[in-house]
This record gives sequence, structure tokens and C-alpha cells, in this order.
Amino acid sequence: MESKKSSLASSTPNISPSASGLTQCQGFWIPSRIAPISSIISFQKYFQVLDEDIIVASKPKAGTTWLKALVFTIVNRHFYTLSNTPLNSANPHHLISHFEVNIYRESPNPDLSNIPSPRLFATHLPYPMLADSIKRSYCRIVYITRNPFDIVVSFWHFLRGVHNLPDWSVEDCFEMFCRGEEGYGPFWDHALGYWNMSLEKPSNVLFLRYEEMKEDPVAQTKKLAEFLGFPFSMEEEKTGVVNQIVDFCSFNNLKDLEVNKTGKMAEIILHSNKLYFRSGKVGDYVNYLTPTAVERFNNILEEKLSGSSLTF
Ligand code: A3P
Repeated sequence: MESKKSSLASSTPNISPSASGLTQCQGFWIPSRIAPISSIISFQKYFQVLDEDIIVASKPKAGTTWLKALVFTIVNRHFYTLSNTPLNSANPHHLISHFEVNIYRESPNPDLSNIPSPRLFATHLPYPMLADSIKRSYCRIVYITRNPFDIVVSFWHFLRGVHNLPDWSVEDCFEMFCRGEEGYGPFWDHALGYWNMSLEKPSNVLFLRYEEMKEDPVAQTKKLAEFLGFPFSMEEEKTGVVNQIVDFCSFNNLKDLEVNKTGKMAEIILHSNKLYFRSGKVGDYVNYLTPTAVERFNNILEEKLSGSSLTF
């Protein structure tokens, strides 16, 4: 079922094996130091979904932090105002935990029955690796993706920061993505799984794009709220609630909260919350990747996604 990617260190000479630590599992490359295979297996075996559950799904660096903040705020807006929401003192990752990184690492079969409904969960796992109970259920999954070039650059910055790898080049990182051997990769298979399910079960899987959210966050936030079963009322729209939520969850606001400027993530590797907030721009990749590299990856994508209606 799984094989160790022991050669990654030699094929990308500037990244240490402990930092890459990828294990192939069920057709994907899993960063198994962060998301142990045993946790994934426990999650697949024991997780019992409820139809009211909401799952935030993404590949790292696609906009997970932003989406978690939005989902948490939308769902809890009748319990918390924006001045007393826990997001003021906790990073979004501390409010919505990942199955494979947090929940099933802490215990192989945790008791999740006391979490108030709707339970909010997150995952970086691809659709085929979700627990069967999820696939059979009517729970809601919100997936966010992003143009792969910005993901490469964001991922590179993030990993260099977390693992202190000043010598790891963006070219090496890009090569990993071209081979489909980055964490939770291949990129194309990850996106395609959720894309196909969003077509097959549109009431249960919503496919969002970072760029569309940047372009029209109000429209996308309304769409998200409706999908989640927490639509904004006319009154809320009239009184500016949607705009207030969009502004609160914006890059500029979240990054300036004290918890995100100075707080730390203690999960496995101690790192700063501020690493989750770099530039928040669309198209920053042009400053890092050559047009030739972009064309090469586009050709790979075209081939891998051929026969599907998914495009980037
Ligand atoms: P950049 O590195 O391009 O700036 P993830 O949350 O999946 O780890 O993704 C991180 C990326 O989302 C980073 O991209 C980060 O700056 C950006 N980001 C974080 N919070 C955001 C927000 N509220 N709005 C828009 N982008 C955000």
C-alpha cells in the first residue's frame, strides 16, 4: 500500500530527507511526518461522519487558512460577533483541525460525539483517501484550489520557513510538482477528485478557486454560506454583514491580528503563525518561475487533465 520516497533527498539535493519525508500511499505522496500513515488509516477505518458535518478540503497553500476563517465565521455568526469571535485570539488552524494531522494523530479512535453540530473538520487528503463514511454521506465538503504556480511558490516559501531551508531552490520545488511528488500530490489528481465529485454531487461538494474568491469575495462568500446551509438573510445583506465578514477574514485583517503576528503553531514542528500569511496575491509566481517552466507545467497539466472538464 505504501512505499517510502527515500530518493527524494538525492533527487532534490538541497532539501533534507526529514523535511521532505514523503511516503507514497494509495496513489498520493503523503508528508507522513506531519500526517502519519497510521493516522490516515485510523481516520479511514473509524471516522463516522454525520450528515451535518462540514469538511474544509484543500491542498496546502491553496487558501486553506482563509477558507477556514470564512467557514468558521459564517457558521458561528449567531454565536459570536466579529469583536468576540475566537478568530481574534486563535489562528484558523486551531479552530478547525485536520483529520490526518491532528485528530487521528492524537488518538486512533477519538470520541468526536460531543462536538456541537455542525462539526467542522479539515483535510489535505485527496478525495479517494477520505473515509468511506464521508463518501456515502450527505455531509458538505468545501474544496479550495488555486493556480498551481502560486501554490508552488507559496509552498516553497512556507517549507523554507518551517524547516529553515535557505538553500532549497524554487526550481527544486517546482520539479517536485512536475513529477507529482509534492506533499499530497500529484496536484492534478488531488484537484480532479474533488472536481469530479463537485459535478456528481453538487449539493455535497463545492469547488472554489482562490482567484475567484480574490476577485469577488462577497459573491463567493454568499455562495459558500448558501452551500453550507447558512445563507445570509436579506436583512443581513442589507445591514452589511456579508461585507463585514469578508473584511474580517481578509488577508490584511487576519495577518495583522496579534495571534497571527506573534503566535506559534506547535504541531509537530514549531513554527510561526505568520508563515500562513505571506503576500496573499494572485500571480506572484511570475516573479519566481520562468515562462518556459510555466509552459512545461501547463503541458503536463493538459495531458493529465485531458478527458476532464477541469482547467487551470
Ligand atoms: P501566499 O504564500 O501566496 O501569500 P494555506 O492557507 O492553504 O496554507 O495557503 C496559504 C496562502 O494563502 C498564502 O499565499 C497566504 O498568504 C494566503 N492567505 C492566507 N490567508 C489569506 C486570506 N485571508 N486571504 C487571502 N489569502 C490568504
